[in-house]
Amino acid sequence: MCGIVGYIGNKNTSEILVDGLKELEYRGYDSAGIAILQDDKIEVFKALGKIKNLATKVDDSKFKIQNSKFSIGIGHTRWATHGKPTELNAHPHLGEYSYVVHNGIIENYKELKEELQNAGHKFVSQTDTEVIVHLFEFYFNQNNDADLSFAQTIKRLEGAYSILLITKSQKDKIFFMKHGSPMAIAKGKNDDEIFFASSDAPLIGYASDVVYLEDGVSGVATSSSLTFSTDVSWTTLPDSKQFAQKDGYRFFMEKEIYEQSDVITDSMMGRITDEEIIFDEIDSNIINGINEIKICACGTSYHAGLTASYLFERLTKVRCSIEIASEFRYKEPLLNKDTLFIVISQSGETADTLEALKMAKDAGLKTIVVCNVDNSSMTRVADTTILTRAGIEKGVASTKAFSTQTVILWMMALAFAKQKNVISQEKLKSEIKTLREIPNSLKVEDSIHEKCRRLSKRYLHGHGFFFIGRDVFFPLALEGALKLKEISYLHAEGYPAGEMKHGPIALADPELFTIALMPQHLHYDKIKSNVEELSARDSTICAISPLDFDLADDFIKTKPANHYMLEFFEMLIVLQIFSMEITVRLGNDVDMPRNLAKSVTVE
Ligand code: F6R
Repeated sequence: MCGIVGYIGNKNTSEILVDGLKELEYRGYDSAGIAILQDDKIEVFKALGKIKNLATKVDDSKFKIQNSKFSIGIGHTRWATHGKPTELNAHPHLGEYSYVVHNGIIENYKELKEELQNAGHKFVSQTDTEVIVHLFEFYFNQNNDADLSFAQTIKRLEGAYSILLITKSQKDKIFFMKHGSPMAIAKGKNDDEIFFASSDAPLIGYASDVVYLEDGVSGVATSSSLTFSTDVSWTTLPDSKQFAQKDGYRFFMEKEIYEQSDVITDSMMGRITDEEIIFDEIDSNIINGINEIKICACGTSYHAGLTASYLFERLTKVRCSIEIASEFRYKEPLLNKDTLFIVISQSGETADTLEALKMAKDAGLKTIVVCNVDNSSMTRVADTTILTRAGIEKGVASTKAFSTQTVILWMMALAFAKQKNVISQEKLKSEIKTLREIPNSLKVEDSIHEKCRRLSKRYLHGHGFFFIGRDVFFPLALEGALKLKEISYLHAEGYPAGEMKHGPIALADPELFTIALMPQHLHYDKIKSNVEELSARDSTICAISPLDFDLADDFIKTKPANHYMLEFFEMLIVLQIFSMEITVRLGNDVDMPRNLAKSVTVE
């Protein structure tokens, strides 16, 4: 993740940078740093841990900015990916006379580093970022032209990144580039001030107009000019901090639904190439000698686990079972050492999941936690931690935690399949190609949001909802039903579509709402028959599918996709928005539904 800030102006640059970083702290707080250039002097401060440590270091130093004078500065709060959290690895990174802050991952950094080392450049950190500043100086030493050197540098970078670079050779400029990771640039309320940040939260109160950069846009800023590589569109920044935290969305849940497309990119970053899936965290022999995979979790995380249980068994050819943690703990489970035990948790603190993990660990099983919160209790117990990198989830109803968990687990299934040699390289490549399309499937289309909003009018009454699906669309149905009931307080059940005729179909009448998940690429004909059976008994049907379906009373058409997991994510968005819009209409608190808490630390 990481957060970056930048400033050009004649105010207190260190204070502005540090305050900005505090707003971005949720993006990572392993270490932080700022670099400020005034006159000919560059001052750099770095500190491990939270931003308050950096603030103390700046306060305790003798360094004083001359406020009336112009200065430029860049800052960074780090969430380590390459290299441990140390001061050396903290940003800004230094060449001989330039500094850079970076959010993202430079995928080809190893090749670039080798090339630069051969050319005599000395590296001091283990990060991917350091290559950027050396590359810049490598070109500048040849051509003495900072603009050209920056252009040459960014041309060589592969991966996802947003960058701010300052250099003593051009003391009034900040060079910037955005590709894959976010960056906003704003004009100050007073003239002669420019602000940069990874989100607009640090800009509120300071700046008036903002540009949210599109991918591929680079440029250069001075106090009196701002040049972009393409046309950009400016918008007015609102004044309220509350708005900033929600990035302009009405609720945290809405913001978190919309940001799924981006956070999935963070989840995959550095873990995927065209040919393979790499989890540096996982021992390359972990699957050796394993005859069973057991997954354990609660709530939404359980639904991600249930989805994964289909994928694990299908892809790795290893038996896979899933347990609800609160049940597992007390059933006196037989645990064999040839079982790999995976727990899933957004918070890493859920009491039942934590206890289940401890039981497995005590029984000598290999354990993995798929978790969103680093340093949480589960990450301290499990042998291996895989972080989902969804960023802080504030809405009590979990959204982006679920999508990131599901993607990580699917990637793990593919990595294990490769380790076991049960997947062909061709199939692996094609699955990787599909993984790369997920951010697109998770983009919320305006038309889909509007359709859900309009339909929400019809689905407020009645005696309940059945969400139905088959295969991985069954856990998705469970998740759709859970989302609806926890925030709207309407009764909803998720059910395997083929199981309806074994009892629940007795409830069918026009007051029973069936939400049918009908993917094109997984058992379409089977689910179609199940929905027809319900329609024949007069249930009100809302079908979600890329294929037209005449028998539905209402129909939400998703984008066609060529893999059922892409259809899965398209439908996930519909279910999340649908629940939220019904809840809005009912007037309930979307972010803090009654009786619930974000982290359930009691059994
Ligand atoms: C539902 C929801 C809960 C959690 C469950 C487990 O929207 O948020 O069902 O999924 O309490 O929490 P974690 O994943 O933190 O272990």
